[in-house]
Order: sequence, then C-alpha cells, then structure tokens
Amino acid sequence: MNIIFLLLLLLSSTVGAEHLLGLPELEIPADNPLTNEKIALGKRLFNDARLSQDGTISCASCHQLDNGFADDVPKARGIGGKLGTRNTPTLLNAAYFNSFFHDGRAHTLEQQAVGPMLNPVEHGLSSEQQIVQIVLDDSEYKTAFAVAFAIPPAQLSITHISQAIASYQRTLIAGDSAFDRYYFGRDKSALSESAARGLRVFRRKGNCANCHEISWNQALFSDNRFYNIGIGMDKLNDKLPAFTALVLQGTRQQAEAMLSAEQLSTLGRFRVTGVMQDIGKFKTPILRNIALTAPYMHDGSIQTLTEVVDYYDKGGHKNRFLDAAIFPLKLTAQEKQDLLEFMLSLTSSNLEDFSK
Ligand code: HEC
Ligand code: HEC
Repeated sequence: MNIIFLLLLLLSSTVGAEHLLGLPELEIPADNPLTNEKIALGKRLFNDARLSQDGTISCASCHQLDNGFADDVPKARGIGGKLGTRNTPTLLNAAYFNSFFHDGRAHTLEQQAVGPMLNPVEHGLSSEQQIVQIVLDDSEYKTAFAVAFAIPPAQLSITHISQAIASYQRTLIAGDSAFDRYYFGRDKSALSESAARGLRVFRRKGNCANCHEISWNQALFSDNRFYNIGIGMDKLNDKLPAFTALVLQGTRQQAEAMLSAEQLSTLGRFRVTGVMQDIGKFKTPILRNIALTAPYMHDGSIQTLTEVVDYYDKGGHKNRFLDAAIFPLKLTAQEKQDLLEFMLSLTSSNLEDFSK
C-alpha cells in the first residue's frame, strides 16, 4: 500500500509559485513543496465550516474573497457571534510575511493555520485530535490526504492539515496593480496625475515608504518590522505609568491584570517579547489591495482611507512609545487627495482568479 502512495506522490505535480509584476520571488519551504493536490485540499479546508465547534465558521467566514480576504467589520466575529479583539487582516500576499498576526506571534503559515481553529472565539474546536477526526470522518478528505501526502490515512496528523492550508494560502498572490504597471512596467499612462503625485508624497513628504517599503524591483509595502504608530494608545495612556512601573518591578502578570481585553490587545508586540520598548508596536501591514479591506488598523478603529491619511497627517496618537517616524506631516488638501488616489491604485488585476 505504501508503495502505491509513494508512486502517487511522485506523480503529483509540484507547482512553481506565481510571479507577478511588482512582487518578489516567493520562497516555498523545503519541507512543504507546493503541489496542486495540497492546494486543492487546502482550499476545501479553508472553506469548510465543519471545522468549527458549531459548524458555522470557516476561515472564509472572516477572510472573505469579496473583501480582499479580510472582512468588513472592525473586529472579527467567530462562533456564536463572539467578538474578537482584532481586525481581520487580508491574506493576499501574506505568503511573503516572515511573521504572522498583527503582533508577529507566529513564524510560518504552517504554524499559523491551526491557531484559529483552536481559538475559542474563532472556530472554537477543542483539540488538534478533534480537527484530525473531522477530516478522517470524511472519506473524500481521507483519500485526498492519502494521495497528497503519500501516507496511509492512519498516519494523518495535524501537520498535514496545516501544510495543506498553508499551501493554499501561498497561492493567494496578488500583484500587477496600476501602480506596478506605472512603476515597474514603465507605463506612464497607468496612473492618473493625482495618483502619480501621491506616489511622490508617499515616498517623500509623507514618509510612508519608510515602513511601507518600495524597492527598485518589487514592492511589498511592508518591511516586516514592528512600530508603534499610536493606534489604540489613546485608550491606554492613562494606565501606562502604573503599568510600566509594575513591569519594571518584574511583575508583568500583575501589570497585565490591570488592563481590559482591549488594552491588552493594544500592547501588541510587547505581549510576544516582554520588552518595554515593544509596547503598542504592530507589524507594518501590506498596503496592496487596501481599497478592499476597510475598516483599518489592528483594532479596526479607522473607517476610511481618508481618515487614515488624516491620522498620519496629525502625527498619530501621542504616547511615550510613539515611533520617531510618526510626526505631523502638514500635508495640503491636494497632497492628501493625491495620497488617497495613490492607495486606490494598489488594487491587483488578478483577484478574479481566486473565485475559480
Ligand atoms: C473569526 C474570524 C476569523 C477566522 C474564522 C479566521 N481568521 Fe485568520 N485572522 C483573523 C484575525 C482577527 C486575525 C488577526 C489576529 C491577530 O493578529 O491577533 C487573523 C490573522 C490571520 C493570519 C495572519 C495574517 C497576517 O497578516 O499576519 C492568517 C495567515 C490567517 N488569519 C489565516 C486563517 C486561516 C487559515 C483560518 C482558518 C483555519 C483563519 N484565519 C480563520 C480572523 C479570523
Ligand atoms: C513608522 C512606520 C510607519 C509609517 C511611517 C507609516 N506607516 Fe502605515 N502602518 C504602520 C503600521 C505598524 C501599521 C499597523 C498599525 C496598527 O494596526 O495598529 C500601519 C497601518 C497602515 C494602514 C492600515 C492598513 C490596514 O490593513 O489596516 C494604512 C492604510 C497605512 N498604514 C498607510 C500609511 C500611509 C499613507 C503612510 C504615510 C502617510 C503611512 N502608513 C506611514 C507603519 C507605518
């Protein structure tokens, strides 16, 4: 039997990653080569609401195709309408991140994939074994997994499930926007005059590209780093002196006990590293397809891109840990409008492909 599965594995097709205008080469981990079989399985799992405690939630419930693989609410809603503390990020081009979640607490897409299923307010399943069992109870899954991984069904583990979901997410690559055709494709007609001026504001006076990086040959619009740009800090500032005093005394647990769930979430990267300077830091998000994923920021607190521009223009919410690259920009009304037009030019041309 194993030999048959091995043969099937050899027959299964390893596929290269997409390479679109404006995007870098995608690195595929050596221990999880991309195959059509795994991608197809991952896609089914991604859309399968049986993988939740009450059969109502799949990954696609929050990461919705029509909303650029994000959703349209400030904070994610999981099983039984339970409200999470954070805004759902897009999964488009998440394959390029080297850390996952707003605070970077997961390191690979494989590692990330199981988290939501066991999260009590997302899919709400109780154990990895329960996930494996749901898959084994479906004879189609059982056969497809055996083929995709060349294993007898008895050896199916959570690792295979994560690898399949991660493989599917590596296909959600979206480049080739009007900006890419203008900047990398040298088609000067691809952007309106306003959007082209907006690109200059983005790189110079607005200082945006300091963090939302654009390189000479590709642009992810993220430097994969963490910054405090002040979001949510207006609600944390009052507690900050007492909080930091307790942290300095080495009683981090006691310090965290003072805070509401929302304030805890605002601590951001600090909760991963325990380093004081990481308070309020979040990962620089990719800005591609940003027009599709309102509301914005880790807490969904900003409704529109116009308001995002205003937020940066006034220099963010002041706080002790605010990054030095966030300061009042003194943009003119025209520059704000141009910046907005520029962000609207970042929508990819190949989004239709994902509905197939
Ligand atoms: C209830 C809504 C919800 C469901 C269901 C859900 N997610 Fe998410 N997802 C979120 C939220 C909210 C975050 C950000 C959480 C954070 O940063 O703390 C997130 C983050 C992610 C990230 C990290 C993206 C980044 O920018 O770092 C990936 C990848 C991801 N989800 C994949 C999945 C997969 C795969 C599933 C199904 C197994 C899934 N999600 C189910 C809401 C959801
Ligand atoms: C110091 C680094 C830095 C600079 C400079 C910066 N950003 Fe950001 N940006 C971030 C981080 C970090 C976040 C996420 C913050 C959060 O979720 O709390 C973010 C979030 C955003 C978002 C929301 C993304 C989403 O998916 O919710 C937009 C839009 C945005 N920035 C645009 C801009 C523009 C336009 C400028 C220039 C005017 C700019 N940024 C300057 C780091 C930066």
